[in-house]
Amino acid sequence: MTDKPTAARLAILISGAGSNMVAIAQACRDGRIPAQVAVVISDQPAAGGLQRARDLGLPVAVVDAAGYRREGRLDRSHFEAELETQIRAHGADMVILAGFMRILSAPFVARHPGRMLNIHPSLLPLYPGLDTHSCVLAAGDPEHGVTVHFVTAELDGGPAIIQARVPVLPADDVAKLSARVHAAEHIIYPMAIQWLASGRLQWNDGRPTLDGSALAAPVRHV
Ligand code: GRF
Repeated sequence: MTDKPTAARLAILISGAGSNMVAIAQACRDGRIPAQVAVVISDQPAAGGLQRARDLGLPVAVVDAAGYRREGRLDRSHFEAELETQIRAHGADMVILAGFMRILSAPFVARHPGRMLNIHPSLLPLYPGLDTHSCVLAAGDPEHGVTVHFVTAELDGGPAIIQARVPVLPADDVAKLSARVHAAEHIIYPMAIQWLASGRLQWNDGRPTLDGSALAAPVRHV
């Protein structure tokens, strides 16, 4: 008798509203992603996404960044040690960053090779870092978008998996543009997680493949 493969167990890390977390949890529930949400972890006790997770009946944990401040700075090693404890305590084997507003250290990232994804609201390598919607509007770019990528020690710099493009319209402000980008996020993040959880997407020591072929450039969703 062969063992049935066990479904992936996701730790979803959030700091804010958690709309991506909800989209991912729903995709797990309805069978589009062969995984289950093991825990939703926030570094912000007031994150709106925590209540949304509770409403979905998901396990939640708070690792309050404010409780790890020493002399005005985040004590990153203790903060990350508690994050890791929570991830392990819930049996998670995949780490999904979904609006988690903390830079994670190289040693933390190295503990999850090929098992940690992030979503970034720009067409990477354009606009790493914060305030991407404002940057796009200030630059007068005709299009904007979103990227799902593997997390490496380089901020917003790991191999890109999938991108979606959206137009920038003349009447756009940050709120309108961000809403259009979010709608695309909720489509492509579950897709990328499905690929990784099902084994279609492989890491291969930093040289990702999708369905056996090198992922030299991100899949272009739209
Ligand atoms: C998204 O725009 C995501 O790309 C970025 O943070 C935001 C999180 O939004 N990393 P939400 O909390 O999932 O609604």
